[in-house]
Amino acid sequence: MNSMFRTLGVAALLAVSACGTANPGEPPLAGARIGGPFTLVDQNGKTVTDANFAGTYRIVYFGYTYCPDVCPTDLAKIGAALRTLDKQAPQIAQKIVPLFVTVDPERDTPAALKQYVANFHPRLIGLTGKPEAIAQVAKAYAVAYMKQPTPSGYLMGHTQVAYLMGPDGKPITSLPLEKDPPAIVAELEHWVR
Ligand code: NI
Repeated sequence: MNSMFRTLGVAALLAVSACGTANPGEPPLAGARIGGPFTLVDQNGKTVTDANFAGTYRIVYFGYTYCPDVCPTDLAKIGAALRTLDKQAPQIAQKIVPLFVTVDPERDTPAALKQYVANFHPRLIGLTGKPEAIAQVAKAYAVAYMKQPTPSGYLMGHTQVAYLMGPDGKPITSLPLEKDPPAIVAELEHWVR
């Protein structure tokens, strides 16, 4: 029985390697409970749901427009990576929809988001909504956030992650925000088919 399982294991390995470069491998986030349905409002004031993005790969990043450092740096990297893909692999780029979901719906109105997302990439979609709707989508994506009062107002602490979601809405991997845009390009080219 043991040797039978071993034989099956070898056969399975051979089958995988026979696919060569066409097979990207097991997604790091395969089976993770990340993602799910949402109903939010985009930067044009239009109601959108997860179903609007079915069939496309999505980059999902949570943050807020008042973020002094982390969000703009990350969004600049994502934007730069997508501009590179737009030029060198448009057939891949056009399958990807980048989403910026605010964790600060109080200040991030559709109009505020519209101005903000335009700084990073023409296709970047900003999403806001009622506080309960934001809380729900953040929870679905395992993103935590918390208001931190300051003398002049408040900051929002938040999880720093950019998910790559597949056309089926399931998570594939998180993008390497700690690296430079070419590393993000390489990751997208690896997974997006
Ligand atoms: Ni931030």
